[in-house]
Amino acid sequence: MLMSRALANPELISLAAGFVDQSTLPVAETHSALQSLFADVEAACAALQYGTTPGYPPLREMLLQLTLGSPSASDVRRQFDVEHVVVTAGSNQLLHLVLESIANPGDIVLCAAPTYLVVLGTIANLGARSVGVAIDEQGMIPEALEESLRAIERAGELARVRAIYLIPYFDNPCGVTMPLDRAARIVEIARAWSRHHQIYVLADEAYRELRYSGDDIPSVLTLDAGRDTVIAAGTFSKSFSPGIRVGWGVLPDELIAPVCSQKGNIDFGSPNFSQHLMWRVLDSGQFSSHVLAIRAGYRLKLEAMRAAADVHLKSIDGVRWQVPRGGLYLWVELPEGIDAGPNGKLFDAAIAEGVLYVPGQYCFPGEGEPVRCSTMRLSFGVQSSDRIGQGIEALGRAVRRVLG
Ligand SMILES: Cc1ncc(COP(=O)(O)O)c(C=O)c1O
Repeated sequence: MLMSRALANPELISLAAGFVDQSTLPVAETHSALQSLFADVEAACAALQYGTTPGYPPLREMLLQLTLGSPSASDVRRQFDVEHVVVTAGSNQLLHLVLESIANPGDIVLCAAPTYLVVLGTIANLGARSVGVAIDEQGMIPEALEESLRAIERAGELARVRAIYLIPYFDNPCGVTMPLDRAARIVEIARAWSRHHQIYVLADEAYRELRYSGDDIPSVLTLDAGRDTVIAAGTFSKSFSPGIRVGWGVLPDELIAPVCSQKGNIDFGSPNFSQHLMWRVLDSGQFSSHVLAIRAGYRLKLEAMRAAADVHLKSIDGVRWQVPRGGLYLWVELPEGIDAGPNGKLFDAAIAEGVLYVPGQYCFPGEGEPVRCSTMRLSFGVQSSDRIGQGIEALGRAVRRVLG
């Protein structure tokens, strides 16, 4: 629906789509990786052949390194090997395969409220239930999580809880980052409440590389030396190219077989060619240099959005946001009475002023925390800094118009 409104008016400044910047896609890096692949006929033939269901072993070794560091980095790192890594067609496929493997119709996945709307769709399509847990500026609140679990237990449904879904780095949609000590509390809670069966922590680390300030935080997987609770999902879609479609998961022991068996039924493995290509991109060092370059670009765009919001939105009573340290999104809360939903006045006013956003209501789980319709997600990934500024100015006019 959002897409059709955007296409109907090409002048519209879309701050809606969570796409990466078209102008910084790695054309030269991909080209040189392809040249190096085709310079080696044996390697090219291997890449053009079927691969294995869990994926190309040298790439999986590197993915483990990206997620957990080198084997000398920690004891936890040494607990995992290539067998725990499965390569998927983007991380969406990994999220889908994991949820399909662990959740039956009627089962519950606890999610931050708000959270990544595609996962909410996946959970609903499986006939499972998403239950929203309150967040603060560090993401899901452990006490609120425990409160939700107590309420679920009182309703006699604890055995239904299968997973806790987190986006620890620069969350989509609300931009917050979870410190490792908070993640550790959540992993502890998952373990403590795993009375009927394992409650998994599904850590979606899609935006980890897109950090614009501060230091990297270790993966939630570093909290799982026992290899029984945490699933870490990663992707090259944001950090390199979404078109290459390479994502991955590092799985607990118990999930390797079910996930790979389901994956084998579906696809015999994700595109082998893309995996060989990505291995070359990583091995040549071009991935790291590309990430540094795009970080610099997105940092400027975030700054453009922040500056424009300060000028055009800050003076409106009750409008609030928290500036993220990475990712692609600014989550804006409006005065309670404003309906920012697709049928509300603001959405139409924004389009009339020339800007499109994602109504925040789409990002709320089906149960638990109430849906907040006075919220919106703005993305600074796609548009130029100038267009971001114009878009925020248009949004300011629209909010003022609706407030009268
Ligand atoms: C939080 C989050 N997880 C996962 C993905 C999946 O991306 P992909 O399937 O391209 O790896 C996205 C894409 O927008 C995302 O925002």
